[in-house]
Amino acid sequence: MKTAPNPINTTKDQTSPDMKKIVLFFALMLSAMAGWAQTDAAAPAKSFMDDPFNHPLMPLYAVTVLVFITIVLVMLVAFYMLRILNTLVEQTEKERAEKSGKVYVPKPGWWAAFWQQINDFTPVSKEVDIDLGHDYDGIRELDNHLPPWWKWLFYTTIVWGVVYLIVYHVTDNLPLSSAEYQNEVNIAAEQARIYRASQPTATVDPATLVYTADEAILTKGKMVFTSNNCASCHRPDGGGNAIGPNLTDDYWIHGGGIKNIFTTIKNGVVEKGMPAWGKVMNDGDVRDVAFYIMSLHGTNPANPKAPQGDLYKQEAPSDTTKQAMMK
Ligand code: HEC
Repeated sequence: MKTAPNPINTTKDQTSPDMKKIVLFFALMLSAMAGWAQTDAAAPAKSFMDDPFNHPLMPLYAVTVLVFITIVLVMLVAFYMLRILNTLVEQTEKERAEKSGKVYVPKPGWWAAFWQQINDFTPVSKEVDIDLGHDYDGIRELDNHLPPWWKWLFYTTIVWGVVYLIVYHVTDNLPLSSAEYQNEVNIAAEQARIYRASQPTATVDPATLVYTADEAILTKGKMVFTSNNCASCHRPDGGGNAIGPNLTDDYWIHGGGIKNIFTTIKNGVVEKGMPAWGKVMNDGDVRDVAFYIMSLHGTNPANPKAPQGDLYKQEAPSDTTKQAMMK
């Protein structure tokens, strides 16, 4: 381990003995850190717990812990010294009182004094003054006033209420929570708009779509189908389950063919449980998955869901070759 140059030599003339100790302490810390940093340079990045002593952040943590311990120690010592000082003062006062023949009454501690101050208890010796004279089987009723802390809390709420009323309802300086919410929604909408504007949006016009068994598109479409959980409602093979209809047969609720399928996927049938995917994916992905659905046509998966909707007759010869073959 290489040690850092000792800064004491260079600062010898100006520093007091205390300063020297502090400087020495930091010099030692620095040299320790330098040593750690060197051993770390070669090691690959690891989680802290794997090898805490060689972790790059170890020196930082060590210094933080040391500083923390030092603060705690200083506070403990200060507290202890105060206690000793207090005892000494008390003792002197006691001696002085005894010398002058008075009875020594120790002063209440700061907590007891504070407690008395915020509660303003009536001393037991003065209870007769606030006795209401009601005696219920030996239980007397005292006319205790409310503790000051309670009253001040109450006054504060009144002041707070007035300020609130003026700021929020009279001068309208600050927005109410509904307006605050609306502001945040507007900001988010603006950010979303900026984000969307920055994204290349290839909008697809369904009217121009023509299905072809394009390998690249079908591969992407299959990925979209799998990664968006289409299978949870339509089965991995598209055969349909209790929720979603069969996507491989000739019967379509919302019309078959690439144009209808694209539109159904993009807009969804929200009231029937088919999400509007156009809200979460771009037109390109919708097209790809629509192509993939088209490719599932006629695959006859086992245990398909019974046909739903109407027998679909293709709208154009180019729409699907498979359908043409089936007729
Ligand atoms: C939460 C369940 C659910 C998910 C997830 C889901 N769908 Fe659907 N889907 C449905 C339901 C239900 C229908 C039938 C709607 C109706 O009855 O009108 C449907 C209908 C369809 C139709 C039209 C079927 C027809 O007969 O007209 C297509 C195409 C379709 N879904 C494709 C997809 C694709 C692609 C995905 C994944 C991106 C997907 N669905 C994800 C529930 C779902």
